[in-house]
Amino acid sequence: MNIKSLMNQMTIEEKIGQLLQIAPFFFIKELDIEVSGHVNTLSMTHQKIFSSGSVLGIGNAEEMIQVQTKYLQENRHKIPLMFMADIIHGYETIFPVPLALSCSWNPGLVKNVARISALEAQTSGIHVTFSPMVDLVRDPRWGRVVESFGEDPYLHEVYAKAMVEGYQNEDIKKVGHIASCVKHFAAYGLSEAGRDYNTVDLSRVSLHNQFLPGYKAAIDAGARLIMTAFNVLDGIPSTVNQYLLRDVLRKTWKFQGVTISDYDSLHQVIAHGCAKDDYEAAYRGISAGLDIEMASLCYVNHLKTIISEGKISCDLLDEAVERVLTLKNDLGLFENPFKGADPNLAKALVRSEKHLDFSRKVAHESMVLLKNDGILPLKQQKVALLGLYATSRETNGPWSWHGKNDLNASLEEALIAAGIQVCYVQRQEDPNQIPKEDYPMIESADVIVIAIGEHTKQSGEAHSRSILEIPFEQDKLIHDAQRFNKPIVTLLYNGRPLILESIQSSNAILETWFSGSMGNHAIADLLNGNINPSGKLTMSFPRNVGQIPIYYNHLNTGRPQVLGVQNEYVSYYLDVSNQPLYPFGYGLSYSNFKYQSIQLSKNQMTKNETLSLEVQITNDSDRGGYEVVQLYLRDVVAYISRPVMELKGFKKIWFSPHETKVVSFDIHHDMLSYRNEYGEDVFEYGTFKAMVGSDSLHVLSTDFDFVKE
Ligand code: NOJ
Repeated sequence: MNIKSLMNQMTIEEKIGQLLQIAPFFFIKELDIEVSGHVNTLSMTHQKIFSSGSVLGIGNAEEMIQVQTKYLQENRHKIPLMFMADIIHGYETIFPVPLALSCSWNPGLVKNVARISALEAQTSGIHVTFSPMVDLVRDPRWGRVVESFGEDPYLHEVYAKAMVEGYQNEDIKKVGHIASCVKHFAAYGLSEAGRDYNTVDLSRVSLHNQFLPGYKAAIDAGARLIMTAFNVLDGIPSTVNQYLLRDVLRKTWKFQGVTISDYDSLHQVIAHGCAKDDYEAAYRGISAGLDIEMASLCYVNHLKTIISEGKISCDLLDEAVERVLTLKNDLGLFENPFKGADPNLAKALVRSEKHLDFSRKVAHESMVLLKNDGILPLKQQKVALLGLYATSRETNGPWSWHGKNDLNASLEEALIAAGIQVCYVQRQEDPNQIPKEDYPMIESADVIVIAIGEHTKQSGEAHSRSILEIPFEQDKLIHDAQRFNKPIVTLLYNGRPLILESIQSSNAILETWFSGSMGNHAIADLLNGNINPSGKLTMSFPRNVGQIPIYYNHLNTGRPQVLGVQNEYVSYYLDVSNQPLYPFGYGLSYSNFKYQSIQLSKNQMTKNETLSLEVQITNDSDRGGYEVVQLYLRDVVAYISRPVMELKGFKKIWFSPHETKVVSFDIHHDMLSYRNEYGEDVFEYGTFKAMVGSDSLHVLSTDFDFVKE
């Protein structure tokens, strides 16, 4: 398709239409999918509807074909609609939630999650997914930490690349490949006090060093779209923020793709107090470089006037429209507007056995063993099963709208299928009470397994919480169960780090998150020891809410607390330690890994050299297992204060029983730079600390100097 000549034939209204994204029900009234807010209340004319450029959300292939057919009959130039949707952690085969995925420390696995998600989603004619979300997070009160990859910028880079490559797979024209829209640009994860949609206020240095790398990695990996965030940055809503959308994105990063607002976020510029009305919001949006407006009507109602009044040149509109049409062309939609939509293919592919098996494997790697006094893995013991999640099938978690929890196995079913003897299952209405008449059955058990956590709707968008204890007082069940004097294994189902002090009396705690279609089967595999846990946390678990924000890669402060040294006037709390309950990078295994020695090939390096760091690790157990070996660096002296440690590499390595391995990392100069407030790379010579360990608290360390050639 020759986009320029097509544009020459389009009226200004038709061009503006390409910048509008609306829900399917505008085209076919029965298709009422996910529509709320402002756009509903506004009257859309027939002409506007049938000139709009893209659709948000679609149920299945039949619906997509119906909408596209009707649209093409009415659209003068037969420009196909582009269908976008939130395919976040699977389509119908649901994988663990993104926070859990990140705990696998396995980008290859995560890439394949995206690949399978694309393969399944395309069968309903979805062309673009609003994923990955790479908002760096430090506050578990924010419900959307469940969609994030945690508190580390390097991990965001690694997973952003993996997901974009998985969805797009080199050529988005091919059937089975969908375009990736990275979100939410920028720093949405820093919503103040963890309240969703709240203000963000951060320094440019933090923006460039901590918050932007994830988005940049997605763009560098080829992500074709980027979604703006709901929050302000420097007081300017991200959706109309010229610094973000022009200076950073276009000028510095050379992004050629499409920018899209979040849901109604262009209109919300008014509530931010940065536009008087939709007219001003439209003016600010197009001037800043916003291409598509999702679910509000500022452009469609006002751009024509703004251009005819000479406020902006028509070139700005043309640039945006050209980007949208180019994407449609690159997706192959002009040749095949129904690309992918195929009910028969859907039957063969969607939720196939192969995909479900893979989902189970991903769930194995995403769960994190937080505590184990040796009770796990279970050894032929009889199990009494208690808690809200004993019989529930709700393992899909937030943002899994195509997934069906009903099809998942309950924990009870999964344990039985795995050959675990279940002698009692709690079924009464009040999940925190153990009925007296059930005591004899529980007494006949060897181990009590308690499955508790958050409701699936307690995390995710607009689901912030200020109290992070396990909700509904479910921890009472653990205390009550102690009367039986049996070992207690607690399984947690949740979408964020919780405050877990009150359940420390458990003999073992397994963080299972919301682990998808095969979650309970995966739990059973870990409990009976068929699989050895290997997940590690990517977000710190605080001891109490007062410690938040708490993250491992913080600055040192001028008065750091030195453990073991008594000094009142240092940075600490009177009533709680500075350390989290479970630190970033932490996770147990049934194996026992010992880090013995750390060695550098030299104790200094220049820009052109690479240092090799070696660490000797032994699996001091009779079980083979995976260990995630983590490399951290610290820039000891720099012009700006630098974090006490920063993850710079990791390796997930298999160790046979009693095997010793020397694991090596290359340290090159790219790992030693930081970014200044303008986003420029800065290299400073001096001393660096290299640390290697099983988590961010337990490391072996050594120093080296970065020197001039
Ligand atoms: C709002 C959410 O913030 C965003 O993540 C999502 O992609 C859009 N709605 C579209 O559903």
